[in-house]
Amino acid sequence: NSSDRRVIDSIRNAESDFSVNAKKGSRLVAERRNREVHKSKMQETAELKGTAMGQVIGLKETGKDSARSDPETPDQAQHSESFEQIQAARKLLPAYKVKSELLRIIRDNQVVIVIGETGSGKTTQLAQFLKEDGYCNDGQSIGCTQPRRVAAMSVATRVALEMGVKLGHEVGYSIRFEDKTSHRTRIKFMTDGILLRETLMSSMLDKYSCIIMDEAHERSLNTDILFGIFKNLLSARRDLKLIITSATMNAAKFSQFFGAAPLFTIPGRTFPVQTVFSRHPVSDYVESAIVQASKIHLSFPISSGDILIFMTGQEDIEATCEGLREKLTGIYAKKKSRGSEAEELDDIDILPIYSALPADVQGRIFNSTPNKRKVVVATNIAETSLTVDGIKYVIDCGYSKLKVYNPQIGLDSLQMVPISMASANQRSGRAGRTGPGIAYRLYTEDSFFDDMYVQTIPEIQRTNLSNTLLLLKYLGFSDLISFPFVDPPPEQITISSLFELWTVGALDNFGELTKLGRQMAAFPLQPPLSKMLLNASMSGCSEEILTIVSMLSVPQIFYRPKERQEESDQARARFFVPESDHLTLLNVYAQWKANNYSASWCRRHFLQFKSLQRAKDIREQLTVLMERKNVPLVSSGSDWDVIRKCICCGYAHQAGRLSGLSKYAHLRNGLEMRVHPASALFGAGDLPSYVVYHEMLLTTNEYINMVTAVDPLWLIDYGLLFYNISRRKEEEEDQGLYADESPRSLKDSIDLAIERALMKKEIV
Ligand code: CDP
Ligand code: MG
Repeated sequence: NSSDRRVIDSIRNAESDFSVNAKKGSRLVAERRNREVHKSKMQETAELKGTAMGQVIGLKETGKDSARSDPETPDQAQHSESFEQIQAARKLLPAYKVKSELLRIIRDNQVVIVIGETGSGKTTQLAQFLKEDGYCNDGQSIGCTQPRRVAAMSVATRVALEMGVKLGHEVGYSIRFEDKTSHRTRIKFMTDGILLRETLMSSMLDKYSCIIMDEAHERSLNTDILFGIFKNLLSARRDLKLIITSATMNAAKFSQFFGAAPLFTIPGRTFPVQTVFSRHPVSDYVESAIVQASKIHLSFPISSGDILIFMTGQEDIEATCEGLREKLTGIYAKKKSRGSEAEELDDIDILPIYSALPADVQGRIFNSTPNKRKVVVATNIAETSLTVDGIKYVIDCGYSKLKVYNPQIGLDSLQMVPISMASANQRSGRAGRTGPGIAYRLYTEDSFFDDMYVQTIPEIQRTNLSNTLLLLKYLGFSDLISFPFVDPPPEQITISSLFELWTVGALDNFGELTKLGRQMAAFPLQPPLSKMLLNASMSGCSEEILTIVSMLSVPQIFYRPKERQEESDQARARFFVPESDHLTLLNVYAQWKANNYSASWCRRHFLQFKSLQRAKDIREQLTVLMERKNVPLVSSGSDWDVIRKCICCGYAHQAGRLSGLSKYAHLRNGLEMRVHPASALFGAGDLPSYVVYHEMLLTTNEYINMVTAVDPLWLIDYGLLFYNISRRKEEEEDQGLYADESPRSLKDSIDLAIERALMKKEIV
């Protein structure tokens, strides 16, 4: 296919020139946003569903969730394969066939880059090979990092199954707030973020004999940072092996970075995939995907193969699954021309996969049922991290959801962006693993060439780095210029992230870590949250802030079933604390606790029991950490103003001032933002004059999620930002500028000062 060849050539020739890409990116994003304005209302809600506010209002929930069995105990019996079958399948994997050569090159070199087609057995086999080769003999472990939590869990489960051991014993996994390992664990799968944290505790990583950095081509922020750390670590620990696995892209770059480390390619065979572009631009890719999938299902025999659909996230995945079920039910009913409501979906298994799904549900994508067609609807996790066998048809929506940081205005937001050409080709390739396949692209060929980057921009070049820079400072890399980056972040992002760390008080005026900054680095939380927590211990409300922080770390607290929306909205409103969504979360938790953490109480009040349980679990882990770090746990009892003040302290740089009907102006950049209509703040009539918020989401509007009303005086106390204004006002007062005005309260003056500064855009 000549267009594919063109793409492959352009990938080969591609220079990761960020400035060019960035320019193209901002144009694309702008165009995309213009186009998005016209998107249907349905999609707008769909996008909101995946956000914290979506979680708060429980926009998307299925009743099944709460009834699901415990994800901690993946049911091995459920698995259809026998142990012998599994061993036989292992031996057929391309990686198995080159086992001895692979082990030899690893023995002879400290760093090896392993390249192989997705599904060749890199992730599941490498660690097992190393263990068999004796790398765990003197009690050391093999660590394998994954950029995604889902992959870490799923792969650990698979490897435990292949080795015939219980998950959490010899084979385990560790992701943030969830550690499924024990002293016996010798093969540990973890997110790259966990390994990065481990370097804080033990800079030599002594307990590992080998580290496999899997999916390195993904260029996740943490993987990139770990590369830099390893560059120094490897010379201090000559015995440590580093194995980097990657798809073809970037592999040469990694080799170069590690002093011409050898590349080892696992030979593998792939089958041709026919790509079919959409002839016209697609306005609603969820709808198109549903139509395409039903067409395939109805026109090709089930035995021809399964379908994999790429969507951007939980919301559109659930919408696609639901829509496809409805559509097929409708078609079947019509066919029978009875109009009966009977479900006829017994020839199809529609399975979602995204990170918030419980592990056992995720595992279902690997099971197959005879005489049924499997339709897996996934995020880009199925691009390379997970391999589902038997896929013949791929449907690609052409977008992914990315966290994008705008350093000019210092804002993080979630945006839908076109995927890169490399991703598009990777997605298509999923159809050709076991035989020739077809990939349906829900975008035009023009948009493939015009709207897509050749490769995805590494996360380090497009994300807020404040958390990472805090860690690096903590690790002693005081001079960031000298940090060995594979690709350095744009200077503007570094500066803006450092500025944010300075505004929260983690850095002093010389860019050195403050005492607060050191303490903040110890907590696996975003800087605003760790700051809030530390401040709370001094203000006497750390018990409460701990609960809030834990509740913010879990998805979906409120449950909103489709058929009982009104009822569940009323139930939710009963928990509202009118001045704060954060306090509303605290209220929910406190009442749940008062009801003995009961599951039936949750059901009665439309709350997600599992999410609350998880929040409780996170809370316990953070409590241990606080005790270890001598951070006192104190309760403010019924005084909720203290708590709000603490919330303000954490988010002082994310504040807004009421500037119209349910609109706020961002205090740092004047950006117009709306409080989500489901916020508790709408419960009490008038909106407060000043608020702080937890996160912002860019869709057709700038929505702010999780909002708390604050006193502007607190903003002055905590927001170094306003120091200039209050000073200027004093100066103006000294010059008699206010002499003719009637005496006003301090609060009014501040209000006025902020207003003037906003008008003049003088606030930094
Ligand atoms: O990492 P790589 O893409 O090279 O392959 P892998 O993830 O190790 O997958 C090797 C084989 O194991 C594939 O055939 C997968 O379908 C299978 N596998 C599985 O059955 N269940 C899992 N949870 C993971 C992999
Ligand atoms: Mg893999």
